[in-house]
Parts: sequence; C-alpha cells; structure tokens
Amino acid sequence: MQKTVVLGVTGCVAIYKACEVLRGLQKAGVRVKVVMTKNATEFIQPAMFRALMREPVAVGLFDDAPGDPIHHISLAKEADLFLVAPCTANVMAKLAHGIADDLLTTTALATTAPIAIAPAMNVNMYDHVATQENMQTLKARGVRFIDAGEGYLACGDVGRGRLAEPDDIVAAAIEMLEVTHDLAGKHVLVTAGPTVEPIDPARYISNRSSGKTGFAIARAALNRGAKVTLVTGPVALGDVEGADMARVTTALQMRDAVDAAFDDADIAVFSAAVCDARPSNPSKRKLKKGADDEALMHIELTENPDILATMAGRKRPEQVVVGFAAETENVVANARAKLERKHADMIVGNLVGEGRGFATDENEVVFVYADRERRLPLMNKDDLAHAILDEALEKLE
Ligand code: CTP
Repeated sequence: MQKTVVLGVTGCVAIYKACEVLRGLQKAGVRVKVVMTKNATEFIQPAMFRALMREPVAVGLFDDAPGDPIHHISLAKEADLFLVAPCTANVMAKLAHGIADDLLTTTALATTAPIAIAPAMNVNMYDHVATQENMQTLKARGVRFIDAGEGYLACGDVGRGRLAEPDDIVAAAIEMLEVTHDLAGKHVLVTAGPTVEPIDPARYISNRSSGKTGFAIARAALNRGAKVTLVTGPVALGDVEGADMARVTTALQMRDAVDAAFDDADIAVFSAAVCDARPSNPSKRKLKKGADDEALMHIELTENPDILATMAGRKRPEQVVVGFAAETENVVANARAKLERKHADMIVGNLVGEGRGFATDENEVVFVYADRERRLPLMNKDDLAHAILDEALEKLE
C-alpha cells in the first residue's frame, strides 16, 4: 500500500529545500501532503507545493478543505509519518510542549504516526538551552531528529543548525516508513541504567551508565509494535511513552521488578549496569568523619544477585534472552564467557573506555553467540537498538 508522509513546512530560509524533499519522496513512490505554517507562506506560496503535489495545501485551521470539516484530524490519520522539514526553533518548542495553535501543530498533536524533525535555525538558537531541552524532550518521546551537523548558515554564522540535505532527509523518512510492526503481539522486557546502592542517606555506590541504550531499545521495540516493560535505575531520561515504566534504585528492587515481568516476556534485553555488590548494612543516618571512620573506611559489601543469570536460568525455550558485556579488553572472549555463565542466547559485547560506550551516542559492538560472532560497524544507539531486536526476533521465529 502506498505510504503517506505529511510534510510540515515552517517559516525559514531553508524552506526551498522542502520542495526537493517533496520531490524526493514522490520519486520513491510516497504520497506527500503538505501542511504549512502561516510564516512559511511568507517565504513560499502554497501554490508552489500545490503544483508539485497536485493536491491542496493545508495552511489554516479554519480553511475549507473540500469535504473535510476537521482537516487536522484527517491529516493526522492519513500520515504514516509526520515529517517537519525545515523545523524552526519556535515550532520545535511548540511540539515539545504540546501547543496546538495552528494546523501544523494541531496535526502533530493529533497524529499517532511517528514524527521526524529536520531542524533549521541560527547556531545560537540551536545551542540555546531551551532548544536543547526541547530536543531532549522530543527525543525521549521517540521523535527522530535528522540533523545536518555544522555548516554555513543563511545568517553568515558557521555552526550547527543548518538543514540536513534533502537526500538525507528523504533517506531517513523512507527508513522510518519501512519499519514494520514485526514485534506486534510480542512482549519485550528491557533493563536499563545503573543501580544505586546506598551507603548512608547521602552516599552511594553506582556507575556511569546513562541508560540511553536501554531506552533506545524500548523505543525501538514500541515503534515495532511490541508491548514493552522498561525497568530502569536512576537516569536523567524521561519516560518512554507507551512503555510500562518501572523506575527503581537498587539491584534488589530491579530484580523484583524484572522478576514480575520476565515470565510473560518473549524477549528480555538486560542492558542495565547492575552494581555487582551493595553495602551490607547501609546506615539510616549520615556517617560522620571521625566518629564513623571505621564504617566509612571499611564498607562491607554483599554480592548482588545476578539478574540476567537468575532469569535466564529459568527461561522457557521460546524466550530469547540478550545480555550485555561492557569490556575494556578481550571483548569476544569475555563476552562468550558471560554468555555461558549466564545462560544468555546472545551477548552484545561492547568495548568501553577511551570515550566509547558510556554516556556516548554511538557504539561499536559485536554480537557474540556460543559458536560465532558478528561485528557491527560504529552506529548510533537507535540503529543498534533495531539491530539487537532484529537479531532477537530471528532467534524467536
Ligand atoms: N547483570 C545483571 N545483574 C547483575 C550483573 C550483571 O543482570 N548483578 C547483567 C547486565 O545487565 C549485563 C550482563 O549481566 O547484561 C553483564 O554485566 P557485566 O557487569 O558486564 O558483567 P559481570 O558479570 O558483572 O562481569 P564483570 O564485572 O567481571 O565484567
């Protein structure tokens, strides 16, 4: 069936590239419907898009669309993908906050289709903390950003904020349209982030895990139609909309939350960086230097349960269990040892250190099985999430 992209066009100099995006999508066999903001019409007349599309262009909330009294709802329903290109800082802010004061933003709020944004703005507007926060909010909600990187901007400044090239925008849109609901009816359980093990009310043991990989897996699984349970330690990431979120602190709490969901899961991905041990007797009051030196300098530790090993030890044959191994050396050998020790079906081996792995947006990993391994190129965490799910699904079938 022919796919429909609703192309949201906002008011900025890069708008001329939207025409090329439209043509590129059409060449790929995609039907495009354009919705413009009023500011966009100051740069290009709707007639330009109408001529390219051979369909009416939507601008105002109260315009007459032939035979369609509530145009924003019909547009929202027609979309297989809602693509905003170029997207100004102002429209991005509205999308982040659910403001719906024109046809474009109302359609964005009403659609259940995936949303992609290709930002275009001045470098200082791009770098402004407000814009950056809006981007994080939208990304956490699963909105995909198609960024250009650095370059010359219309205002003469050099920096980030330039609209991505039309070919790249078209390629990203096509990729998003091709995502199928191949995980519909499946339950994917994901652990993410670090665990935090208290020493006293102020101090704790933890690690540098950001949770980004686990959250990306949860988002990818949701986009592919799965029911998702995301059990996460403390991270600075917003809820993954649509997932069953369990926010926990300690390894024991994580174990209990995973235990409750595991039996129903078809695929379980253990990406959390669980602390191997916890202070045996966390103090209820803050330990004081001097008086509590003994307790502070010699923290007695108790080993935490290995959540992955415990769950995989009781898995049914039709369940697929994926673990992670963050290593600074001998990735494949160490990952394979973990695979056997923990009874996982696959281990995602990950070289960390020297700027790789923790708190970065890109990863270079190797999928390790009992009898073989597959090296993947350096990729962002969203692509890695899909690659892991592809692999798990293959095992499931
Ligand atoms: N894991 C877990 N529960 C733990 C420890 C680890 O579920 N208590 C899971 C992680 O989520 C990951 C895998 O086991 O999928 C590997 O974790 P890692 O910390 O790298 O391995 P360890 O067994 O702790 O080995 P080492 O610290 O020696 O590398």
